Order: sequence, then C-alpha cells, then structure tokens
Amino acid sequence: MMRIATGDFEDRHRLINRRGTWSAKWESLPSDHISLSVAEMEFVCAPAIRSAIANAAVRGIYSYTEVFPDFAGACTSWFTRRHGTEFGEESVVFVPRIVEATAMICAHMLPARAKVITLSPAYDPIMEVVRRCGCQVTEPAMRYADGAWQIPFDQLATMLPDADLFILTNPHNPTGRAFTPKELERLAALLDQSSCLVLSDDIHCDILRAGQQWSPLARYADAGLRTRLITALSPSKSFNIAGLEASALIVPDPALRARIRDGLRAAGFHNPNYFAIPAAIAAWTQCEEWLDTTLAYIDNNMARFAPRFAALFAKEKPVIPEATYLFWCDTRALGAAAAKEVCTAAGVHPSYGEGFGAQWRDYLRFNLAAPQSLLDAALERCEAAAQKLK
Ligand SMILES: Cc1ncc(COP(=O)(O)O)c(C=O)c1O
Repeated sequence: MMRIATGDFEDRHRLINRRGTWSAKWESLPSDHISLSVAEMEFVCAPAIRSAIANAAVRGIYSYTEVFPDFAGACTSWFTRRHGTEFGEESVVFVPRIVEATAMICAHMLPARAKVITLSPAYDPIMEVVRRCGCQVTEPAMRYADGAWQIPFDQLATMLPDADLFILTNPHNPTGRAFTPKELERLAALLDQSSCLVLSDDIHCDILRAGQQWSPLARYADAGLRTRLITALSPSKSFNIAGLEASALIVPDPALRARIRDGLRAAGFHNPNYFAIPAAIAAWTQCEEWLDTTLAYIDNNMARFAPRFAALFAKEKPVIPEATYLFWCDTRALGAAAAKEVCTAAGVHPSYGEGFGAQWRDYLRFNLAAPQSLLDAALERCEAAAQKLK
C-alpha cells in the first residue's frame, strides 16, 4: 500500500462550522463547545465525491434508484487494489447501513431469543439493535496485556459452540486493534467448531496507521465457515460519507446470500438513497490519493495529541491505535468522575466509556479525525479545566 508521510494538508487544517446542518455530532451543543465524539471526520470529502453528488443534485429529480453491477465492480476493485483481497462481484450485496443490516440479520435470520456473542467494549448502536431484536447478548471482555488489547480466546472457546451469531469488529472500535493473521487464524479455528452465523464488521478497515494491515477473517475461513460468514464493508468511514448510506455485505456462499436477500426484502430494503451509489463508486474508484493524505494527517494527529490526552487523563503511556481515528484513553490517573468533570467544565465532548458497556466507565474515546487547531483548542481547554479543578 502506498503511503505518504506528509502532504498538502490545507483542506485537513481547515475548520468547518457544521452547525446549521442538522449534524448529529454538533447541532445540539452550545456554540462554543467542541465535539470529539461521533465517528466521522471533520474534513471535506474528496473532490470526486463532491462532483458526483453535485452532478446528481443538479438533475433535480430525486427518484428511486437501483443497484447495478457497477457498484459491486467498484467495491471489488477497491479491495483488490488497496488490500489485495479478492472476492467475486456476485458476493456483494448492497445495504444502506451496517447497523440496519445487523438488525435485519437478527430479526429475520436468527431464532427467537438467539444467543449473540461479541467482544466488549462494543459499538453501542449495533448492540442496541441486537438487544431490541430480542437476542440474548454475551460480551466477553477484551483484556489489556503486554501493552495491547487481546481477544479472550479461552472464554470464546466455551461460548461459541452454543451461539447463534458471533459479531467481530475488525479493526476494533473502540480499542483500535487491527487483528493479526495469527489472531484471526485462531479465531477462525474456534468458529470452525461452532455452527453460528458470523458477521465481521470491517467498516474501519481502510483507516490504518502507516505500516499496519487489515486482514479479513474471510482469508482464514475454511469452506465450512465460508458458508456462514458475512463481511460488512463500507466507504462511509474511509471517505467521510456516512450520511449518504452506502455499504456492502460480502457473502461468498450463494445459499446464505439468498437468505440475506430474502431478509432484506422482508425488512423493506430496496432502492438505495439517490446519492448513495454515485458517491460510493466515486469513493472506491477515484479517491485513493485523498485517503492517503487523510491517513497521513490522522497519523500525525495520533502521534501529537494522543500522548497529550494520555498525560492528562491516563496512568499509562498511550496505546496508539493500529487502526481507526479513535483514541481509547483510560482515565485512571484522574478517575472517571473527575475526567468527566474536566470534560464538562472544558465544554469538550468525547464519547464516554460506559456507552461501550458499563464496565468501561474508566475510558474516554476521543475522535482525532479533526483539524489540529480544533484538537489543540480541546486539549488546552481540558488542561485548563484540570488545573482549575485540582
Ligand atoms: C464498528 C462500527 N460499525 C458500524 C458503524 C455504523 O455503521 P452504519 O452507519 O453503516 O450503520 C460504526 C460507526 O461508528 C462502527 O464504529
């Protein structure tokens, strides 16, 4: 993978006022507060995406659309070129959002009160839909050991034989782990011994620190596991187009794919959002340079700001995430309550750890995909608030 160390960062440095845009992240905050929460970037999209949207908008008729083979072609070409991962175009199923696809799987493809297993901490909106679909959720916790977050294989070994669905998040949100081939081989071996459906949510797979790689679980799945495996991918995080709602499920097994298509029909999914397909195709075919520059900027932000957040809140030196633009920061130096007080007094809004499971209240997740001036301002305010509260 081609990576650059520096770049033309002018667009990434630019602070954009998103108030007045119905932004989920900004709109309800007081005007002088800073949000470092929702996993989206504070950067304008690549020019090719903006052109694709502008060209679609100018036509003035925003009618029903359909998915044609160019969507699957753009998707497979991206993953072959960027990650050396090949899957057949026939295995690609369009879905608007991964949270919705997860809800469909739980509601239409699992038995009543299905047993669902995922690693904790876990991205809450996914777990909310799983619970609301009536599933029983078990969340073995990742363990911090030897300076890294580890999969609790021993617990999974006892839980998986009884499961209906296992949800992996790779790379993992919020710890930022990009699981290694060795870990995924071990996981695939455990999954081989179960009969559950497997959903690998790989939405963050393009957001890698320099030198890191994404390995899809599918690469280590034998023929049996491949009949039960669904990989969820999307241009939404990588190219900052979450609001346009274009994602893909990669389902190599034809029978499972037919069940998924049935489930999607039953759940009322058809006809993508008018802007979704042109944006996704532009992203996957024309925006690689934009992504490289953005990743270099985020790498710089991680190196520069994660240690400062850690110095303020954490006892240990920061674990720089291998993937994602999210910094999972422990707050044991200050204590969870004091850390919250500092953020509140500073008017800075991270994602709070308890949102990822009650046992994670000692953690804050900071989104560092933002202009350096915004991160500087957030840190300065937190540092000043911490001084005052001493
Ligand atoms: C692991 C993970 N899965 C899914 C999503 C959301 O996906 P979508 O917007 O396609 O529902 C997020 C968003 O932050 C995420 O972190």
